[in-house]
Amino acid sequence: MVAQSNRRDTIKMLGALGLLSACGTTAGAGVGGTTPSLSALAQKKGLRFGTAMAAHQLNDPRYVEIVLRECGALVAENEHKIYVILGQEDNWNFAPGDALASFASQNDLRMRGHTLIWSHPRWLPDWLNATTFSPSEAEAWLDMYIGRVAGRYNPQLYSWDVINEAIDADTGELRETPFTKAMGVDAITHSFFAAREAAPDATLVYNDYMSWEEGNEAHRGGVLKLLERLLKDGAPIDAFGIQSHSNYNMPDEFTPERQRAWRAFVDEAVGMGLDIYLTEFDVNDTRLGPDIAMRDRLIADYTKDYLDMMFSYGETKELLVWGMVDKYSWLQTFFPRTDDVEKRPTVYSSDYEPKLMRDAIAASLRSAATRTVG
Ligand code: G3I
Repeated sequence: MVAQSNRRDTIKMLGALGLLSACGTTAGAGVGGTTPSLSALAQKKGLRFGTAMAAHQLNDPRYVEIVLRECGALVAENEHKIYVILGQEDNWNFAPGDALASFASQNDLRMRGHTLIWSHPRWLPDWLNATTFSPSEAEAWLDMYIGRVAGRYNPQLYSWDVINEAIDADTGELRETPFTKAMGVDAITHSFFAAREAAPDATLVYNDYMSWEEGNEAHRGGVLKLLERLLKDGAPIDAFGIQSHSNYNMPDEFTPERQRAWRAFVDEAVGMGLDIYLTEFDVNDTRLGPDIAMRDRLIADYTKDYLDMMFSYGETKELLVWGMVDKYSWLQTFFPRTDDVEKRPTVYSSDYEPKLMRDAIAASLRSAATRTVG
């Protein structure tokens, strides 16, 4: 079982099974080689590079090999979410999250937590959405849940998305959850205090998906307002997680005008003294034509432009991608294409071959300025 061995043993075992790709030393089809690893390139600049991983991927040796070769950090794609941990009231399920945490520690991968409170009713368990709390009950529940989950993985997890997606993307207002219904914005502030208590040394992050895309103005404005409010109220928030999915607009729509608006937004966030974590990078190609070479080129060009801009901020401390291999990407089922063509949103193809996106990430890391490790 892969999760039982350390990184050296795992790589040795995969090699013996003939599962190591040749691209560690030679160039893959149409792209540069894969040494040094993305993690090594990032580390040189005081950055971290890593990926989201799902527990079932621990059983895919080829996926594991890519993660171990390229990454220095890991985040659970779904396994630390409330709907997994406490999908049913009083029935705690830590098994899949624990499996990923053990894999990380046995293989010297750093791990971050996603997410203590997903402040969006769609992703809260039904039983929780159906619960009505008084303000003091909501506070006690948050203390209990955050204390237990963040405490369980303390001090292993170096960072937590304490709150994910608290702002309604259409209105820019705070989303209603059982907690905000009871406590208003204090539910968010309080969650940060509870996380600080349970994981005193972890970097605490507010994470959201607002982007440079058209129609994101209200979302961006709402997020800045929330961050300002949290900081004014003294919430122990260390970093702003910019998920970095491109969801609606295509990679060739990152126009100079949108880039200017995006830069103004990021300027405001770093102006508040927050570090920036790029937590979930991938590129949607829903509306691009089927030609693979064309899609890969546009995606790579966008990746380079976006990351160059984001790494130009010394406050940017890490890049985590939302999956390393196309076939496992959430985008294969969300935002469906009208044809049957497989999307190409991640770093490696479904044949486990590095794509032009990998070259783009490597090039951006190479040209990034060195920063203080955060
Ligand atoms: O586990 C069940 C499985 O038992 C069932 O057979 C299958 C049938 O649909 O569903 C499985 O659950 C899915 C789960 O992922 C695990 O794969 C859910 O349907 C699916 O909705 C869920 O989607 C995840 C989504 O968050 C919602 O939690 C995606 O994998 C995950 O990539 C996505 O990640 C989010 C970040 O957490 C926050 N930012 C946006 C990002 C992309 O949406």
